[in-house]
Amino acid sequence: MPTSADSVFVTRSDGISAEGVRDQYADGKAAKVWEIFIGDKNSRTDNYKNFLVDLLRKKGCKRILDVACGTGVDSIMLLEEGFEVTSVDASDKMLKYALKERWNRRKEAAFDNWTIEEANWLTLYDDIREHRQAGFDAVICLGNSFAHLTDSFGDQREHKQAIKNFEKCLKPGGILLIDHRNYDNILETGATPAKSIYYNTSHTADIKTSVLFYCGKPVLVSMDYQIEGNKLASEFRLSYFPHELKRFTDILREIFGSQSKHKLFGDFKEMNVVENPAFYIHLIEKPTKV
Ligand SMILES: C[S@@+](CC[C@H](N)C(=O)[O-])C[C@H]1O[C@@H](n2cnc3c(N)ncnc32)[C@H](O)[C@@H]1O
Repeated sequence: MPTSADSVFVTRSDGISAEGVRDQYADGKAAKVWEIFIGDKNSRTDNYKNFLVDLLRKKGCKRILDVACGTGVDSIMLLEEGFEVTSVDASDKMLKYALKERWNRRKEAAFDNWTIEEANWLTLYDDIREHRQAGFDAVICLGNSFAHLTDSFGDQREHKQAIKNFEKCLKPGGILLIDHRNYDNILETGATPAKSIYYNTSHTADIKTSVLFYCGKPVLVSMDYQIEGNKLASEFRLSYFPHELKRFTDILREIFGSQSKHKLFGDFKEMNVVENPAFYIHLIEKPTKV
């Protein structure tokens, strides 16, 4: 079924199917240049590695589920830091690069034990049945990934279903770390800020931003990326649901329960030290008692 936005606006590059899971990476264009786009893996993760690793250790997390692993950049960093990682993604074009890395480093025990599966957030709980065990200590969904899930029915039921699946994959007391761009700011300005904790902006020639309003509501933000670097140039379009901060926080609370602990970070920093962050990172804890 097309999304309501799809019926008036083409959200993907030509030739990409709208059936089933909308894999916006299916033409392989973004996947091919992703590692250039995000820059050197270590310099990217340096921006938030300490934050993430310290937080996971402080919370006693060992088993991590990366639900939007893409080419594997965060999963690899966590494996190198000694966590047990299960990585999933809906796009085989993106997963190909993670699988390649696992093969190249198969002699390292952590990589030999790395579980990589294709899965979709809407069916995640069933998709990873064999790997759930008693639940994960942490689920991470980073890199503005969640916003790829559009809102077909206009009531955000798919967003809630996906977050419910993340919550079900956690053991009691487990944490979800999930981010989105600062869409409040994007909607206000109509532009995507160049500064980014995730991407090496020296290779991002341009991000042209369009905002689609449908029946008076912003329903879709499309970003046309122009990436240049390492003698490779690429253009691709990715589309996102514009999660506004308050609404997104309310949905997290609705799914995890009003008693759950929620904390917000801006660009992986405490909110009081960052002004107008490019990304919001939500940390929410699954209550130990239901
Ligand atoms: C922006 S990329 C980020 C990947 C990685 N976290 C990073 O930061 O490099 C977003 C990823 O989310 C995945 N994705 C989008 N919708 C999905 C869904 N419904 N289920 C599972 N993965 C999905 C895409 O295939 C893509 O690999």
